Amino acid sequence: MLEVKDVVKSFKTGDHTIKPVNGVSFSVEQGTFAAILGKSGSGKSTLLSLLGALDKATSGDVLVDGVNISQLPDSKLTAYRRDDIGFVFQQYNLIPNLSAKENVMLPMEFAGVSRAERSARAVELLSQVELAEETHDRKANKLSGGQQQRVSIARALANRPKLILADEPTGNLDDETGELIIELLRSLCQEKNTTILVVTHDQALARKTNRRFRLARGKITEITQG
Ligand SMILES: Nc1ncnc2c1ncn2[C@@H]1O[C@H](COP(=O)(O)OP(=O)(O)OP(=O)(O)O)[C@@H](O)[C@H]1O
Ligand SMILES: [Mg+2]
Repeated sequence: MLEVKDVVKSFKTGDHTIKPVNGVSFSVEQGTFAAILGKSGSGKSTLLSLLGALDKATSGDVLVDGVNISQLPDSKLTAYRRDDIGFVFQQYNLIPNLSAKENVMLPMEFAGVSRAERSARAVELLSQVELAEETHDRKANKLSGGQQQRVSIARALANRPKLILADEPTGNLDDETGELIIELLRSLCQEKNTTILVVTHDQALARKTNRRFRLARGKITEITQG
């Protein structure tokens, strides 16, 4: 269960302060596939980074299975990010001079998985996102945008996280590949009880989720129709 309670994030820019997240509260049961919609600049990426403990909220609480991550010491946060969260960044954030496969292996290395197991799982994950085998050893900075996006999804799944936070995971994919990724995410929710929050403008993706939320003017509301 993910519970978000009155979370605020403010940024100071020059002499004024903006609050893209200004009192966001919602909760989702474990195993939910949820979408967050909203205009460009409405604070979607900011909210995801707070849920993934990549940034600290100005105020409010984020509880994951009852544990308040807003109050965890840094050492515990590192473990939370490594073991419990899979993050798909809007700009992928792959390590440019590592290969596709090495990027997927990296989080498993941090988690202490043996080299043989890391290698086998990386190959399995890359084939699940249908990255052609001849591309596995290509450096990330030599991959196309859509290929990088798929590597970043495979990397997010590496440590079998219980919560996946994905920022526009189909944003750079053709319809067919996008559909493949949507089905992959859906099956993780259904079969592994993974909770998935996707930020998306992709209607095909939003339609496949269990719940849809809209972020506007710093607040989140659930979309109950359409
Ligand atoms: N580190 C920061 N410092 C100052 N302002 C920031 C920072 N990060 C984000 N913002 C501002 O907060 C607002 C929300 O940004 P955010 O990236 O969360 O939007 P978004 O909904 O993800 O947009 P998009 O759909 O274009 O990705 C924007 O006005 C942005 O300029
Ligand atoms: Mg964004």
